[in-house]
This record gives sequence, C-alpha cells and structure tokens, in this order.
Amino acid sequence: MKKALRYLGIGFVSLIALFILALFVLMVRGSSVISEAPPVSHSGPDALQDSMLVARGQILVQTTSGCQRCHGQNLAGQQMGEPDAFGLFVASNLTAGLGGVGSILDDAGWEKAIRHGIGADGRVLVGMPSEYFHAYSDEDLAALIAYLKQLPPVDNELPKTQPGWLAKVFLGVGLYTPPAVALDPEAPHAAATPDHGSLDYGSYLVSVAACSECHGAQLKGPEFEGPPPGPDLTRTGNLGAWMESDFIHAIRTGSTPDERILDPNMMPWPYFSQMNDSQLSAIWSYLSSLE
Ligand code: HEC
Ligand code: HEC
Repeated sequence: MKKALRYLGIGFVSLIALFILALFVLMVRGSSVISEAPPVSHSGPDALQDSMLVARGQILVQTTSGCQRCHGQNLAGQQMGEPDAFGLFVASNLTAGLGGVGSILDDAGWEKAIRHGIGADGRVLVGMPSEYFHAYSDEDLAALIAYLKQLPPVDNELPKTQPGWLAKVFLGVGLYTPPAVALDPEAPHAAATPDHGSLDYGSYLVSVAACSECHGAQLKGPEFEGPPPGPDLTRTGNLGAWMESDFIHAIRTGSTPDERILDPNMMPWPYFSQMNDSQLSAIWSYLSSLE
C-alpha cells in the first residue's frame, strides 16, 4: 500500500515536472519568436511637411485608425491596463518629447513601425496592430507620417512592453504571431488609395480601421484568438436586419435600431463617428457584400 502510494506520488511529481518543463520550453520558444525582427525594405513614401498632407494624416490618425485609443489623446503613449500573466503592454509615446520615438524615427522608421510592426530600436512590437495598418497605401501612409512628425512634443517616459509568461506560451504555441513575423516583408503595397465609392474602398477602410482586431478575421465575431470580442458584422449577425441608415446612425451615435447603446470603451465608435457619409457608406456596402 505504502509502496503503491509512493509510486503514485513519484508519478504525480514527474507529471508536474514534465508540465513545467513543457511550459518552460514553450516560453523559450515564444521569446525566440519576438527576439529578432526580419529585415524589411523601405518602399519610401515621402512624408513632406505639406499642410494638405498633414490635414489628411490627422483624419487618418484621429478618425480612421483611431491611434489615440491606444496611444492616448495627445499620442504621448500610455500603459494599457495593469500587468498580468499576459504581461505589461505600453503603447509608445509617438511625439518627439522625452521618451518619445518622434525624435528617433525617420520616414523609413515610421513606415517600419506602422506597416511592419518593428519598433524604433528594431524590436518586434507586440500589441501594435500593424497587420491591419499594413494595408495603408503609400499615399495615405505619407500623410500619416507627415502628421505624426509635426505633433507637439510631450515628455512622457514610459516602461517598455514586457510580454508575460502566458503571452510567451501563446507565442510558443503559435496562438499569437506578432505582425512583424506574420507579415511578408516583401509584400507589395498599393501606391494609391482605392477610389472613394468603390467596394475596394470599403474593404480598405475596414482594414486600416482594424475592425477585425475585435470582430474577427472574417468579421464574423469572436474567434479563439481574439480578445476583446466583437459581434458578427455580416448579414448573419444583427446587421442582417439593418438598413444603411441604421448602420450610419449606430456608428455616429452609438445607438442601434433595437435601442442598445454600444459601449464606447469596447467599440471605439466615437473615433469612427467622424468618418464622412461616403466612407461609412463604403464600409456598409463592403459589410453587406460579405457572405
Ligand atoms: C490596439 C492598440 C494600438 C493601436 C490602435 C495603435 N497602436 Fe501603435 N502601438 C501599440 C503598442 C502596444 C505599441 C508598443 C508595442 C511594443 O512596445 O512592443 C505600439 C507601438 C507603436 C509604434 C512604435 C514605437 C516604438 O516604440 O518604436 C509606432 C510608431 C506606432 N505604434 C504608431 C501607431 C500609429 C500611427 C497608429 C494608428 C495608425 C497606432 N500606432 C495604433 C498599440 C496600438
Ligand atoms: C477595439 C475593438 C473593436 C473595434 C476595433 C471595432 N469594434 Fe465594433 N464592436 C466591438 C464590440 C465589443 C461591440 C459590441 C459593443 C456592445 O455591445 O456594447 C461592437 C459592436 C459593433 C456594432 C454593433 C453590432 C451589433 O450587432 O449590434 C457595429 C455595427 C460595429 N461594431 C462595427 C464596427 C466597425 C465597422 C469597425 C471598424 C470600422 C469596428 N466595429 C471596430 C468592438 C470593436
């Protein structure tokens, strides 16, 4: 009896040891995923300090992509939530103030960060949704960068993002692949933004607004990978019963035809609400065209 128990005990301890070892191996693998960024070539949008370009970039930053929802109202960066098993996530200070990357990045560096998810110091960025911003046309990217380069400097020194053990295990298993690793560094880029009014323009806006970050790659709602969950945006969801005017009203005011109020902390409609009618209409047409 005593012997049997002892063997059981040894078996149990070995099982735990094996489990810890497996976690450790996955964490090491996860760390190696983010240890080195791939080389990317610079396709070279010229971000001239032209007032028209800057104004266009401001709209893209503040409305279409809502960069402020993570980087803060003045884009001087912020810590996103309290550190937990997933780690500490800090959206960088984008200005040229103390602790900001604005004084370090040249146009190629900005492009690398926004389009490829590689930081100013060559780091693989974690938590920056470049997989969606990758779609930006050269034209719009130049405008974005022109706007970012003239932000008023704000001093804000922040700690760096530190993926926690659980994030490393996720990276190790391949449940999350950072954009710098997932994206093809040589993928060609559209020079021009699709024609306003075309279905492609709707798809373009959905991409650079990162709707899939929460609504899933197919916009069909939660997938295993994606926190936080957003509902199905195709005809099989609530939107199947909506008209275009209901959609525009929902994005503008946060209130749905069935009289729910969309939580602005979960669904960043206050940013998207600044899009003009033709943009919202293009998004609606694209969403309605999905299976
Ligand atoms: C969902 C949140 C989120 C959104 C939206 C977002 N970012 Fe980020 N961004 C981050 C995080 C988090 C980091 C830091 C990641 C790290 O340190 O690993 C980051 C890093 C960056 C960096 C790299 C800075 C450095 O430290 O080298 C740049 C540049 C940047 N973001 C620009 C933008 C721009 C421009 C937009 C809008 C087009 C944007 N971000 C939208 C979360 C976000
Ligand atoms: C940061 C995550 C996030 C992003 C980015 C996001 N959404 Fe949402 N969205 C949500 C969540 C969460 C809800 C549910 C909110 C609630 O019920 O209060 C939602 C709800 C909605 C609804 C209402 C759906 C319904 O069934 O009532 C629409 C429409 C919508 N989102 C459209 C969009 C579009 C279009 C984009 C891109 C331009 C987008 N969302 C980007 C998280 C997001």
